[in-house]
This record gives sequence, structure tokens and C-alpha cells, in this order.
Amino acid sequence: MMPGMWSGGPTAPTGGPAARRVVLLGAPGSGKSTQAARLAASLGVPHIAVGDLLRAVVARRTALGREAATFMERGELVPDRLIRDVLIEGITPQVALDGYVLDGYPRSVEQATDTQAMGGPPRAVVHLWITDQEAVRRLAGRRYCPEGHVYHLEDAPSRFGLRCELDGSRLVVRPDDREEVVRDRLVLYHRRIDPLLNRYAREGLLVEVNATGEPEDVARRVLDELTAASGSP
Ligand code: AP5
Repeated sequence: MMPGMWSGGPTAPTGGPAARRVVLLGAPGSGKSTQAARLAASLGVPHIAVGDLLRAVVARRTALGREAATFMERGELVPDRLIRDVLIEGITPQVALDGYVLDGYPRSVEQATDTQAMGGPPRAVVHLWITDQEAVRRLAGRRYCPEGHVYHLEDAPSRFGLRCELDGSRLVVRPDDREEVVRDRLVLYHRRIDPLLNRYAREGLLVEVNATGEPEDVARRVLDELTAASGSP
């Protein structure tokens, strides 16, 4: 870890001092996935993206996948009993112990209450905030490959056009990035987010970050705010 970087604070509620469990919250298109990948690399912990885990299950066409797909295509939340099965795949006991950056969970107070599903309570909760207008703009231009590598037609284009720079596969539009579905996802997000933010603010875990601007600038802000919140230099 780089000197001066956030270390999760002096003690952890469970899982020992190394349990750097960080949760990212934010509207669709706020850059959770983009920032979670950067933060996870900085902290040396895995990035757990619930949306990616769900899309992998959908691609496998299992019964769970088929059921999850019906909710995801409409931009609705997948029922908690299915989400738990998916989380168990990503958050193994060792990952829970060592720490992670979790993107996409929790999305409701009910999910936040189920700290067992997260492998323990989070050490910090980062809220990435942007305007709905910017969220719609970003999602309209998003393209991704089946492996989950994310691009933006204007802001983060692939050097290979509509092919992934990392694996060469064809970039596609996510089915839930159609504008009418994005609007529904934003309505659902706003309906659920305030109680969640209030809860984490009360617990002293909430770190607010303006997610507008270049991804690198946002990443720096995230690290700075986490460092400030943990009280370490
Ligand atoms: P999920 O995949 O998690 O979707 P989401 O939360 O709607 O978030 P997005 O992936 O759309 O956006 P993001 O914030 O990650 O932004 P990104 O970095 O990609 O979940 C999908 C579905 O799964 C849900 O709708 C639900 O059905 C289900 N689900 C998931 N979790 C669940 C749960 N806990 N309970 C129940 N159901 C659940 O960036 C977006 C675009 O913007 C990209 O093109 C990127 O390149 C670009 N970009 C990023 N940062 C910047 C920047 N700073 N400036 C300009 N462009 C940027």
C-alpha cells in the first residue's frame, strides 16, 4: 500500500485490522464500477460488482439467471433471496476477511441490515453523486464487452472502435441502458437511497464524493475523502 493511503482505520469491527470492506453507492451511471476498479487496485483488494456477478449468472442461463434477467431487463431490483446466492459466490470468507470494494450492494435499508451477506459491516461507505442529466448522458454512451470491460463512446472510447481493447470482443449496449429503462432505474434509485444514506451517516461511515469530472480526478477525490474520514495521514 502506498504511504499515506487509507488503511481502514486502526481497528475493524469484525475480521481483524485488515478487513478493509468499502461499499460504493451511487445512481446508475455515477461511475461505481469505474471507481470501484480503481479503488480496489489502489487498496490491493478485489472489486466485487454485484451487477457483473448477476450478468454472469444470466449468461449461464441457469434457473436463477433466467429469473434475475426478468427483473434486470426492466431496471427493477432482483429479489434479495437471489442476490444472497450471488453474493456468496463473490464474497468468500477469505475475501470478507481481507477486504473488498463492493459495488452494487446494498441498495436498500433491508439489504444494509443483512451485514452477514456482506461478510461483515463495512468500514466505509462512499456515495458518488452526480446529476440525473449526467447519469442519462453517461449511460447513453456506455458500451461494454461480455467480460465486463466498460467504455464510453465520447469520454472513454476504445482505441479499437467497437472492439474491446483488452480482449478484442465486440462492444455492446447493455439492455437496461435504453433511455426509458434508465429513467425507471433512476426513479427507483432515488426512492431507496435517502434512508440508506441517512443510516450510514448516522453510523459515521458515509463519505460523500462529487463524481463529476475526469475519472482520475474522481478517483483522487475518493482516496482523499477516505483518508480524511479515517483520520490517518
Ligand atoms: P449494476 O450493473 O450495478 O447497475 P447500476 O447500479 O444501475 O450502475 P451502472 O452499472 O449502470 O453504473 P455505474 O455507476 O457502475 O457506472 P459505470 O462506472 O459503469 O446493476 C444492474 C442491475 O442488477 C440493477 O438494475 C438490478 O436489476 C440488479 N442489481 C444489482 N445489484 C442489486 C442489488 N443489490 N439488489 C437487487 N438488484 C440488484 O459508468 C457508466 C458510464 O459512464 C461508462 O460508460 C463509463 O465509462 C462512464 N463514466 C464513468 N465515470 C465517468 C466520469 N467521471 N466522466 C465521464 N464518464 C464516466
